[in-house]
Amino acid sequence: MFASLSMIAHSVRNTLLITSVAIYTLGIAYWYWSVRRLRDRKGNPIPNGPVGLPIVGCFPFLTHYPEHVVDKWAKEYGPLYSLWLGNQLFIVVSDPIIAKDLFILNGSPFLPEKKCSSSPRLYSALEESRIHHTVICEATVLVQELYRYGKAGEFPINPQPHIGRNSLNNMLMLAFWIRTEGTENPLVKMALRLSREFMNCTGPTSNLTDFLPLLQRIPNPSTARAKRLRQAMIETYGGLVKDVEARMQKGDDIPDCVAKYCLLNQEKEQLSDFDVLTLCAAFMIGGVETATIIPAYPEIQAKAHEELDRVVGHDRLPTVEDEKDLPYIHAIIKEVERCYNPFWLGTPHMNTQELTYRGQYIPRNTVMVLNCYTLHHDPVRYPDPFAFKPERYINDSYSSYESANLGNPMERDHWTFGIGRRICTGMLFAEREIWLGISHMLWAFRMEQTPGEPINLKDYDGFSGRSPVTFHVRMIPRHEKVVEVQ
Ligand SMILES: *[C@@H]1O[C@H](CO)[C@@H](O)[C@H](O)[C@H]1NC(C)=O
Ligand SMILES: *[C@@H]1O[C@H](CO)[C@@H](O)[C@H](O)[C@H]1NC(C)=O
Ligand SMILES: *[C@@H]1O[C@H](CO)[C@@H](O)[C@H](O)[C@H]1NC(C)=O
Repeated sequence: MFASLSMIAHSVRNTLLITSVAIYTLGIAYWYWSVRRLRDRKGNPIPNGPVGLPIVGCFPFLTHYPEHVVDKWAKEYGPLYSLWLGNQLFIVVSDPIIAKDLFILNGSPFLPEKKCSSSPRLYSALEESRIHHTVICEATVLVQELYRYGKAGEFPINPQPHIGRNSLNNMLMLAFWIRTEGTENPLVKMALRLSREFMNCTGPTSNLTDFLPLLQRIPNPSTARAKRLRQAMIETYGGLVKDVEARMQKGDDIPDCVAKYCLLNQEKEQLSDFDVLTLCAAFMIGGVETATIIPAYPEIQAKAHEELDRVVGHDRLPTVEDEKDLPYIHAIIKEVERCYNPFWLGTPHMNTQELTYRGQYIPRNTVMVLNCYTLHHDPVRYPDPFAFKPERYINDSYSSYESANLGNPMERDHWTFGIGRRICTGMLFAEREIWLGISHMLWAFRMEQTPGEPINLKDYDGFSGRSPVTFHVRMIPRHEKVVEVQ
């Protein structure tokens, strides 16, 4: 009796088990079949790629350090491969020539996923001389501030908030014609937090929730985070736009700034937080990473100092015009951007028309991803790719903007600023900001690691966004002219 009961129970359990395995297998088979079914009229299939799990696709593999996984797949499936996140098809491009063919030459079908609405007009709305003046002023203030807070090199400091505020002020001046004093300003704290959070939320993995109807219904930290972030950004930056509006209504004479331009032109589209923040983040990361990396390489720092002393001397600060005569520092910046790209997986493009490229079908509404990680670590293009070696760029006198427009994509310096229509439109401005910030810091200080607190270059918080773990360095003035900077 008991024996037969337990036998029935046993067989019921087996049946259940078999049934669920069968359903699961069928599910996989159906999913696999529906994925592979995609072909163009001539029968060309979509590029090959990892299969992933049913329903969620490759999502579970991409939640942490996704660039490593995306890189591994590029080695396995080649420079053009596909992957699914839920029911959204992504195509990953990891080769300079294919990238040029697809994002630039074939550019018309690839619309940026979100309109970069304000950028092109943003810059034309501002006078070149004012942009220039703003950037120079802020770079000078950065030197004074690091000197003051670091008690002339006596105390180790975390340069992050200072560099962040510098970049924030540049952005605020151009956008709203305001600037902040001191890192304690609540706006600085807020903006720094927002831009770090923004870094945390960008990249294909966070966008996943936009594409995955299923996950959208499952409470998901990244959706909640993205929503909170968006809300906070609207409150912070939207509040600033309102301030400008109120001042304009009172009849104040407000110099040309992006907010005024947008308000005057009655544009429905608001100032794009995305562009503004990208701009801000680009410099912040460039500046912060440099301040992180330089102290870890004393011999590189010594060479940079030698070059500055020889070309500029101590009597004046380096200028934009000096850049061509300071190839080593120019090279350090390029190498930082190559090694420490804040957005390894770029900003995705969406293609709006189907096409077939080299016998591979790319359906409409595919998200195209530029795999900067693999591009930046190509051992043929960059021998010893994981080493930090500014020398590799020593003969590259192009700005990154010029480099992005070179005919031969194999000669491009790096892809940190993106590609095609999605290329960071604020690039020229960002490059100048980065150049002045970094050359000023190097001119003024010898940066030293704090004993017992070695700099951790490997870890970062965030997912696709990269920002270094908090660190402290001593900013030791190199000569007596530093205190006179004003
Ligand atoms: C998705 O990507 C777009 C464009 O890259 C970006 O503007 C948006 O903020 C991303 N979404 C999330 C939730 O991060
Ligand atoms: C740069 O140019 C010099 C002189 O032409 C050459 O000797 C050197 O190998 C080049 N360096 C690199 C990294 O290309
Ligand atoms: C970024 O994400 C990491 C990991 O989830 C988290 O620990 C960190 O606090 C986040 N940073 C910000 C500023 O949100």
